[in-house]
Amino acid sequence: MSFESKSHQLLSKIATNNKHGENSPYFDGWKAYESNPFHPTKNPQGVIQMGLAENQLCFDLIEEWIRNNPKASICTPEGVNQFRHIANFQDYHGLPEFRNAVANFMSKVRGGRVRFDPDRILMSGGATGANELIMFCLADPGDAFLVPSPYYPAFVRDLCWRTGMQLIPVQCDSSNNFKITREALEEAYEKAKSEKINVKGLIITNPSNPLGTTIEKERLKSIVNFINEKNIHLVCDEIYAGTVFTTPNFTSVSEVLQEIEHCKKDLIHIIYSLSKDMGLPGFRVGLVYSYNDEVVNCGRKMSSFGLVSSQTQHFLASMLSDNMFVENFLAESSRRLKERREFFTKGLEKVNITCLPSNAGLFFWMNLKSLLKEKTFEGEMMLWRLIINEVKLNVSPGSSFNCSEPGWYRVCFANMDDETVEIALMRIRAFVGRQKGKTVEIKRWNSNLRLSFSSRRFEENVMSPHMMSPHSPMPHSPLVRAT
Ligand SMILES: Cc1ncc(COP(=O)(O)O)c(C=O)c1O
Repeated sequence: MSFESKSHQLLSKIATNNKHGENSPYFDGWKAYESNPFHPTKNPQGVIQMGLAENQLCFDLIEEWIRNNPKASICTPEGVNQFRHIANFQDYHGLPEFRNAVANFMSKVRGGRVRFDPDRILMSGGATGANELIMFCLADPGDAFLVPSPYYPAFVRDLCWRTGMQLIPVQCDSSNNFKITREALEEAYEKAKSEKINVKGLIITNPSNPLGTTIEKERLKSIVNFINEKNIHLVCDEIYAGTVFTTPNFTSVSEVLQEIEHCKKDLIHIIYSLSKDMGLPGFRVGLVYSYNDEVVNCGRKMSSFGLVSSQTQHFLASMLSDNMFVENFLAESSRRLKERREFFTKGLEKVNITCLPSNAGLFFWMNLKSLLKEKTFEGEMMLWRLIINEVKLNVSPGSSFNCSEPGWYRVCFANMDDETVEIALMRIRAFVGRQKGKTVEIKRWNSNLRLSFSSRRFEENVMSPHMMSPHSPMPHSPLVRAT
C-alpha cells in the first residue's frame, strides 16, 4: 500500500479532502519552477517565476528605514529595553499601538477618505488566515459564497478546506472586461437557490487578483445594494488596495457604505494584509475589519489561532506610525509598479500580445488567444505546457483562476529585477515569433535542463512533497525551508 493511501486511512477526512487545491496547474507551475529555478549566472536557462504575486520593488525603502530606526526592533542595543515586555505580550487584541498604526495605514492607503476604528481590527496569519477566519464566523459546512470569476486560486483552500463551505462562481467574461454585473450576480444567486444551496454571502477582491483592475464606485454601490437586498454578507478582500498605480483611483467598500442610505453595515467585512502593499508576506500580518460587532467578538476569540507575533507588531507599530515614511513609500511603490507594468506590457505589444487594461496589482492578465491551437481549455493547457517547458516561464493559466473563457494567463511582474524582466521578454518574443512561423533565433536549451511533462524526472519533481509550493502544508515547502 502506498504511503498516500495509508495516510488517508490514518488522517481525518477533512484533512485529506481535496479542497486544498494542490492539484491545480497554478501550483504545478510552482513545482516546475522549484525543480529548475532561474538564476542569472548559476542557472540562466531555468524557469523564471512569474506566478508569484510578490511586491519586491521597494525593499530598499524599508531597509533604509530600518537602518535609520534601530529602536524599532527589540533585537538591537537601542531597542532591547523593550524586549521583556514584547516577548511576553500575547493579548489577542494586539498591541494598542499596532492596531492604531494599522488603522491609520489602512486609511492612508484609501487616500485618507475613510477612518478605521482600531477596535474593529482582528489579527490573523496573513490574508490567508483572515479569509478563513471570516468564513468560519459566517458560514456552516455546505453554505455558499458567490465569487466573481476569474478569482484567486487559493480561495478554495483558504475559504473552503477547513470550513466545509463552498464557492459558487459568478460568471464574468471579456465582453465587458470581466466586470461584475448585476445580471451575473442574480443568475448565480438564483441558480444556487434553485439547487437549495444556502447562499451566505459574496466575496470580491478589489483590486482584482488576477485581473489587476479596480471596481468603479457605482458598480461597487450596486454590489452593496445587491447584498443588502438579499440580506447576505459581503467580504471585500482589499489586499491589493495600495498597489493602485494609475487612474481610476481605488474606491474601498468602506467609502461606499458611507454613501448608501440604509446600508446594512453589519453585513460588510474587509480583509487586509501587509503582504502585497508593503511587500511583507513573510511577516504574516493579516487583518479582518468587520462592521459587525458579533463578528468582531467571535473573530477576536479566533485570533488565538493566528496571532501576529508581538515582535512583528512592535516593529510595524513603529514603522507604520511614521507618516512621512508611509506616504513616501506608498507613492514610490505605485510609481515603480506603474513603470514596471508599462515596460513589460510595451515589450509584449511589440509582438502583438495584448493585456487587459489594468490599473493595480502585481500582475496583468495576458491574452494569448491568438496562439491557441484550439480555443478550448485543453488548448490553453497545451500552450501553458509549452510556455513552461520551452520558454521556461511560470505564468498561470486562466483556467486555474476559474476563468470562463480559454486563452488568458496571469503574469506577475513585481517579483523580479529589471534584468530578469528583460530575459523573460526576450524569451516570450522569441517564442511568439516561432509560434507565428517567423524565423527567430532561439537558444537551444540544454536537454538535461529541459522539463518534460512525460519524463519521469519531471513527474518525480512535480509529485514529490519536497517540491511543493510555498502555499503547501508539506514539511519541505520553500516557506518552511526559508525559515
Ligand atoms: C486576493 C488574495 N487574497 C489573499 C491572499 C493571501 O495573502 P497573504 O500572503 O497575506 O496570506 C492573496 C495572495 O496572493 C491574494 O492574492
